[in-house]
Amino acid sequence: MKILRTKKAASATSAAWRRDGQSVALVPTMGYLHDGHLSLVRIAKKRADRVVVSVFVNPTQFGPNEDFERYPRDEKRDFALLRKAGVDAVFAPTPEEMYGREGATVSLSESALSTVMCGAQRPGHFAGVMQVCLKLFNIVRPDVAVFGEKDAQQLAVLRRMARDLDVPVKLVGAPLVREGDGLALSSRNTYLSPEERKRALALSSALATAENDWREGRCDDARRAVASIRRRIAKAADSVDYVVAVDKDTLEPVERLRPGVLIALAARFGKTRLIDNHILR
Ligand code: PAJ
Repeated sequence: MKILRTKKAASATSAAWRRDGQSVALVPTMGYLHDGHLSLVRIAKKRADRVVVSVFVNPTQFGPNEDFERYPRDEKRDFALLRKAGVDAVFAPTPEEMYGREGATVSLSESALSTVMCGAQRPGHFAGVMQVCLKLFNIVRPDVAVFGEKDAQQLAVLRRMARDLDVPVKLVGAPLVREGDGLALSSRNTYLSPEERKRALALSSALATAENDWREGRCDDARRAVASIRRRIAKAADSVDYVVAVDKDTLEPVERLRPGVLIALAARFGKTRLIDNHILR
């Protein structure tokens, strides 16, 4: 597995593969990898001849009072996991390599998709995500890029960016991976105390209950479903940021539950903000 530290090396490596007629998949991550990330690698390997994983804690998507400094990092472990997973190259630049000494001056503006849900609580977050992903696409020039449905809003925002700007990359969505007890895998789960972790199971169980009630014909009213999820998680969480039922692509609120509806939520346990969601199929 190649370890690439510069944009030049990443571009050259990918260009050489493409010259050889090989297709390239990119899996962008911020590291501290878990099975959710590794599931994206497995999908990427099926979709292309070569797989590049980026490991970069992107400063521009963190707000001033967020956890950029304390975001968990363990490059050695990440690289070992990626090598074992059969990744061809890891791209792990420093912020200075990525943005230059002066930082970037041009950014993408937010839209209706990026100012709702997580975007309402994290102004500028999705502008930072779009910025770094567009840079990664331009550096690696992958045929496909794989993103998890764990961050369903991120996927919707990036799909829209690629469409609006005619970015020549195919975005592939990957199913959300959970622990055995239902907790959605996240690098931020490491912040949770055992007691907070136990309470956080309310998120997945409230979503599962709503899915069951819908599937069995007990509730297809979106407002009622959202209210009932909110009630359940309010009992367990220290605060609830949002619970919504929206179209998974437009993120517009829906009245009735149906396949393609994204039920998404964010809540806080101690200092940790967790997100979870379920897409009705
Ligand atoms: P990060 O949180 O490291 O996640 C990297 C990718 O892994 C994202 O596409 C995310 O949706 C996916 N992922 C995380 N947890 C998952 C889970 N439990 N199941 C399935 N997929 C999961 O998302 C980011 O980094 C950054 O915003 C990034 C896109 C890299 C831009 O900086």
